[in-house]
Amino acid sequence: MSRFVDVKPAPPIAIFELSRAYQLDKNPNKVDLGIGAYRDNTGCPWVLPVVRKAQLAIAQDETVNMEYLSQLGLPEFTSAATKLLLGADSPVIKENRVVSCQTLSGTGALSLAAALLVKIMGYKTVYYSKPTWGNHIDIFNYAGTNDLRPYRYWDPVNRRIDFDGMTEDLRMAPKDSVIILHACAHNPTGIDPNEEQWKQIADICEEKGLFPLFDCAYQGFASGSADNDIKSFRYFVSRGIETLCCQSFAKNFGLYNQRVGNLAIVVNKSNHCEAIKSQLALLVRKYYSNPPANGARIVAKVLNDPTMLQEWKQAIQEMSARIMSMRKALREHLEDLKTPGTWNHITDQIGMFSYTGLTPEQVKYMIEKSHIYLPVDGRISLAGLNTNNVRYVAEAINKAILNL
Ligand code: LMR
Repeated sequence: MSRFVDVKPAPPIAIFELSRAYQLDKNPNKVDLGIGAYRDNTGCPWVLPVVRKAQLAIAQDETVNMEYLSQLGLPEFTSAATKLLLGADSPVIKENRVVSCQTLSGTGALSLAAALLVKIMGYKTVYYSKPTWGNHIDIFNYAGTNDLRPYRYWDPVNRRIDFDGMTEDLRMAPKDSVIILHACAHNPTGIDPNEEQWKQIADICEEKGLFPLFDCAYQGFASGSADNDIKSFRYFVSRGIETLCCQSFAKNFGLYNQRVGNLAIVVNKSNHCEAIKSQLALLVRKYYSNPPANGARIVAKVLNDPTMLQEWKQAIQEMSARIMSMRKALREHLEDLKTPGTWNHITDQIGMFSYTGLTPEQVKYMIEKSHIYLPVDGRISLAGLNTNNVRYVAEAINKAILNL
């Protein structure tokens, strides 16, 4: 008899299962459109040249040691990351109205934010877009919220944002609800509110006393401009709305396995910062004591060095331009094949993903017949496409639609 007899198997983590299935597939034509990780035009992961350069410099720097970081992380990293979010001459930075804490990438920032909001501040109700990145729901659930509610976001018929539905749902939200927003490149739909719509969302948050929480996993990756991709968050901040942003450097620095992130909390009164910092430090201490240094050193080195910063800006332009060219190519091939339906949404959407509108049956068909791997909701990672496989993928989509 084992003590562990009652531990029931947990459900698989679908997106990682999909990657495994892809890796095990021996078919030479297989294509991975699953997990959101950048691939170059040969289908390989890409270490950004500036990241490689920073890593080498750090490895050779004998003043760098392996001592513990403080709970809030490497100051030169958190300050540079926060500047990237808010803009170097943000009044919020000058007025000391932002608390920053290094985190284990975006997921770590979300978990820490959830713990602060739910356990320390007592927030009860959390709204997420329908659909959203699945981990949003699990993280807030685990932090102790059992009042998690969807707000409408995606209009499947017209394949665009259901803005009326979204605003109607947000207007009904009880005061002090946390509203999870995607700063840019909404995952999974690839559709963001426009400037006017962000303004209306901010109006509702203000009028109804809601707390907007931004998840920012794609800054610079969506449009190729880091400033452009963070306009939503900066706009809320410019209106004096207290908010926070969970920042990931997985995609825009290609540092997926280094777990580099930052939680930036913008407050209206600078004298609240010390108490927030101390609570975050205690949470970090309880969860993992202190964060790892290597990835944060890489990001800090790049962001704080004008030449390296330029090289990074070039790299994000290169990645986003390749993705945009794949959107265009996929749409052209689908239209050329006279695939039933309209395909403008592929080029209208932004960021790493396209929410294709493929049904679960069509997805299954594509995996089984064509060895093209994508999640059941029909989301594709455009980064998995390249000039060698895009026609093959379009033909497979065409076949799946014609057959089912
Ligand atoms: C994705 O959505 O594919 C990525 O953000 C990877 C993940 O952890 O889910």
